[in-house]
Amino acid sequence: MSALADKVIAACREIAGFSEEPGRTTRTFLSPPMREVHRVLGGWMQLAGMRTWIDAAGNLRGIRTGYGPRLAIGSHLDTVPNAGPFDGILGVVLGIALAELTGGVPIEVIGFSDEEGVRFGVPFIGSRAVVGTLDEATLGRGIGDAIRAYGLDPAEIPAARIECSAYLEFHIEQGPVLDDLGLPLGIVEGIVGQSRATLTFQGQANHAGTTPLRLRRDALAAAAEWISRVECLGLSDAQLRATVGSIHCEPNAGNVIPGMVRVSLDVRHASDDRRHRAVRALVDEANEIGARRGVAVQVEHGLDQPATPMDAALTARLARAVAAAGYTSHVMMSGAGHDAMILAPMIASAMLFLRSPGGLSHHPDESVRPEDVDAALETGLRFIRNV
Ligand code: HGY
Ligand code: MN
Ligand code: MN
Repeated sequence: MSALADKVIAACREIAGFSEEPGRTTRTFLSPPMREVHRVLGGWMQLAGMRTWIDAAGNLRGIRTGYGPRLAIGSHLDTVPNAGPFDGILGVVLGIALAELTGGVPIEVIGFSDEEGVRFGVPFIGSRAVVGTLDEATLGRGIGDAIRAYGLDPAEIPAARIECSAYLEFHIEQGPVLDDLGLPLGIVEGIVGQSRATLTFQGQANHAGTTPLRLRRDALAAAAEWISRVECLGLSDAQLRATVGSIHCEPNAGNVIPGMVRVSLDVRHASDDRRHRAVRALVDEANEIGARRGVAVQVEHGLDQPATPMDAALTARLARAVAAAGYTSHVMMSGAGHDAMILAPMIASAMLFLRSPGGLSHHPDESVRPEDVDAALETGLRFIRNV
């Protein structure tokens, strides 16, 4: 099996070279390098006996019909900026490899077009399209135009609906748990909920040399105070993740007091109530800081994705497949969001994590161990034969 594991890893590293940016891996929704990904993986799907097409949401679809229930295996093809070679793509490549190993069994392998939400600030475009939750308003935020520019027709999205009996997603853990435990595989019992928002601090640009600090309405100083409060709240609850990952400052010149600053907010928690309370508290803090500093604060809520359990029966079947393959696994929650959380409310879904060495992800040094890819293939084979 290790030759196939090596082939899976090599394919992920080859795909990582299809990027919008030279020297690093950045591949966003329907960007030009996505065509190379569709070509290479579509070709492998066809060799595995699948009919392939690109659906109206830009998902790469491969189906092999046959007698009996059809399992879908997939993950996403897009990346964050300066990504590693395995986040998302590994789940698609493992699906194709398993299709290759299980000739004749009905199967769908799907490569979702956008899970990260980098290009338009809207995650899960592809998976929402296949379960019918991608609404017209979302398409109107430039996404429909991007679909047309790629040569697809958004009006055809209703035809992209997925028909399968169950969904299985392989994904790197992207955290330190399995590496700390010394285990190759993790069984995902659920995915934490996530909120994403954008906050704009509007102050007054002015001369850095002439304006006394007590007379300033410094947008960056206000945002900086608030960012430190975000970190304090995150540190107060071990289950909470609160992150400001991006910042935009205008006019962004060293001798000008910042007039406007726009920052992102990403909040995650297994409890939706505690996540919502954290977001409300952070918005209140931003408004208090803004009022005290004479800086206007505007909040745009982008995503409110509930925490999502995986299907208990399918997950138990996955655990049996791990044991039958001779591996020990750890049942855990996923702190990262995945397409499985979009499919799970409509389709019985399960996830299998592969260890992230060093717990590193969303970073070019993200990696997997060949023996863990072997473990996932051995498990996947047994899972497919039992579904
Ligand atoms: O942000 C996430 O949880 C995932 O990487 N999209
Ligand atoms: Mn990711
Ligand atoms: Mn991912």
